[in-house]
Amino acid sequence: MRILKRLRMNERDRGFVLWFTGLSGAGKTTLARLLEPRLRAAGLKVEVLDGDVVRTNLSKGLGFSREDRDTNIRRIGFVAHLLARNGVAVICSAISPYRATRDEVRALIGSEAFIEVFADCPLDVCATREGKVEMYAKARRGELKEFTGVSDPYEPPLTPEVWIRTDRETPVESAERIMAYLAERGFVPLDVAR
Ligand code: ADX
Repeated sequence: MRILKRLRMNERDRGFVLWFTGLSGAGKTTLARLLEPRLRAAGLKVEVLDGDVVRTNLSKGLGFSREDRDTNIRRIGFVAHLLARNGVAVICSAISPYRATRDEVRALIGSEAFIEVFADCPLDVCATREGKVEMYAKARRGELKEFTGVSDPYEPPLTPEVWIRTDRETPVESAERIMAYLAERGFVPLDVAR
């Protein structure tokens, strides 16, 4: 007798992409680092694709022209897509300043698995954040060209799935809000999000 087994897809099998966007110093990497162990603890397979890290390998040699940034984002999006369709929870943290390019990645991954998180923070606050002070000072003196928010555009998302004001809440509070959103969407079990 043939027994038909009905496989139920639970939260742990559904891949998704948590796509952070925001200025340098807005808190994207901090939030990615906080979320990674939480998602692992929920039993998910997790990968982080961080702009600063990707630029030392997969995107090595790319600069900050629109063309190079788009190439960087498309590469990150491509890898994120491969991982997510195999059940991995992917956290991407790159400035990704252009709306059209983010939307291209959204279309590739599919809206059901693409979660855009806007790390929103005033430029003046970003410029005071750890590790960013010197860079912003150089950008403002014109010694660092094409710097996002200073001498290069940043197009904020209009309808992000999650909107985080990183100057108004702590990283832990933001991480909890993101976990709650993921639970609401059925990507993580409800009990671990609390
Ligand atoms: S993106 O625009 O292609 O998405 P990405 O996130 O990979 O950027 O890299 C941004 C990081 O590169 C910043 O956090 C900062 O450390 C560094 N950086 C160096 N030059 C620039 C620049 N001109 N504009 C923005 N970030 C820069």
